[in-house]
Amino acid sequence: MARIPSLKSLNAFPHAEEHLLKKTYSGAIVTILGLIIMFTLFVHELQFYLTTYTVHQMSVDLKRGETLPIHINMSFPSLPCEVLSVDAIDMSGKHEVDLHTNIWKLRLDRYGHIIGTEYLSDLVEKGHGAHHDHDHGHEHHDEQKKHEPTFNEDAEKMVKSVKQALENGEGCRVYGMLDVQRVAGNFHISVHGLNIFVAEKIFEGSSHVNVSHVIHDLSFGPKYPGIHNPLDETTRILHDTSGTFKYYIKVVPTEYRYLSKKVLPTNQFSVTEYFLPIRPTDRAWPGNCFISPFMLR
Ligand SMILES: *[C@@H]1O[C@H](CO)[C@@H](O)[C@H](O)[C@H]1NC(C)=O
Ligand SMILES: *[C@@H]1O[C@H](CO)[C@@H](O)[C@H](O)[C@H]1NC(C)=O
Repeated sequence: MARIPSLKSLNAFPHAEEHLLKKTYSGAIVTILGLIIMFTLFVHELQFYLTTYTVHQMSVDLKRGETLPIHINMSFPSLPCEVLSVDAIDMSGKHEVDLHTNIWKLRLDRYGHIIGTEYLSDLVEKGHGAHHDHDHGHEHHDEQKKHEPTFNEDAEKMVKSVKQALENGEGCRVYGMLDVQRVAGNFHISVHGLNIFVAEKIFEGSSHVNVSHVIHDLSFGPKYPGIHNPLDETTRILHDTSGTFKYYIKVVPTEYRYLSKKVLPTNQFSVTEYFLPIRPTDRAWPGNCFISPFMLR
C-alpha cells in the first residue's frame, strides 16, 4: 500500500509515546481519589434530587359556606360530667344546636379511668337547658324543671349524685367533633348549663368550682405531617382559686398538597390565652373554658 504522508496527519487518536503509558502508583492513587470524589458528589446530588421540600404559599381564601370542624379532646379531672355542658354560638347569634355534632362525655374516676359514657346529641342552649341522651340512667334534670327556682325532687337527686361524684373525685373527659359556621364565634365548656340554684347548692359558692383541665387535643381539621397545634397537651391545674380560662383562637385555613397532587384541606391556628380569676364579689360563675375560633377572611 502506498503511503500517503498527508493522510497520517488526520489520525485523531495518535499513539502516545511509550513512557506516557506507564502505570505508576501515584497515578493509581489519583485515579482512586477521583473516583471517590465522583461517587460522593453523585450520591449527594441524587439525595438532593430525591428530597421532598415543603413549600409554603399564601393566598386569599375564596371558600364560602363551608363549615369548620372542631376536634376536642380534653379532661376535667375535678368536675363530674353531670355539671359540664358544651355550647357554641356564632356572631350571628345562631346557636349551633341543629348542626352535626358528635360529642361524648366520659366519666373518669379519680385515677383517670373511664367509668361511663354519655353522648351529647345536642349542644346546650345557653340559659335554656340540657337535652342529653344518656345510657347510665342518671337522674337528669328536665328542661322545664330547670327554670323553676324552687327545688324539686329531680334537682335534689341530681345535687346528691353530683356531690357523691365530687366526693369520689370524679372527673370528665369531653371529646368529639363539632361543626360550626366559618364566622367569628365561640364555644364554651362550662357549668353554665346548670341552674344557678342547683349550682349554688352543689358547689356552695362559685370559687369552689375546680376548673382545672388538660387539653389533649384541640384541632380544626385533619392533621398533616409537621402541623403544630399549639394547645395540645396543655395542662392547667388550679389549686386555690377559680376563674375562667379564655382561649382566643385565630384559625387560618390551610391546604396541604401531597406530591401525588392530593389536597388535604385543614386549618392551623394560633392562640392567645388568659385567665380571669374569680373575685369574691363576683356573682358570675366561672366558665371553665371559652374558646373562640375566629376566621380571618
Ligand atoms: C383523648 O386523649 C387521651 C389522652 O391523651 C387519649 O388516651 C384518648 O385516646 C383520646 N381520645 C380520642 C378519641 O382521641
Ligand atoms: C383541682 O383539681 C386538680 C386536679 O384534680 C387538683 O390537683 C387541685 O388540687 C384541685 N384544686 C382544688 C382547689 O381542689
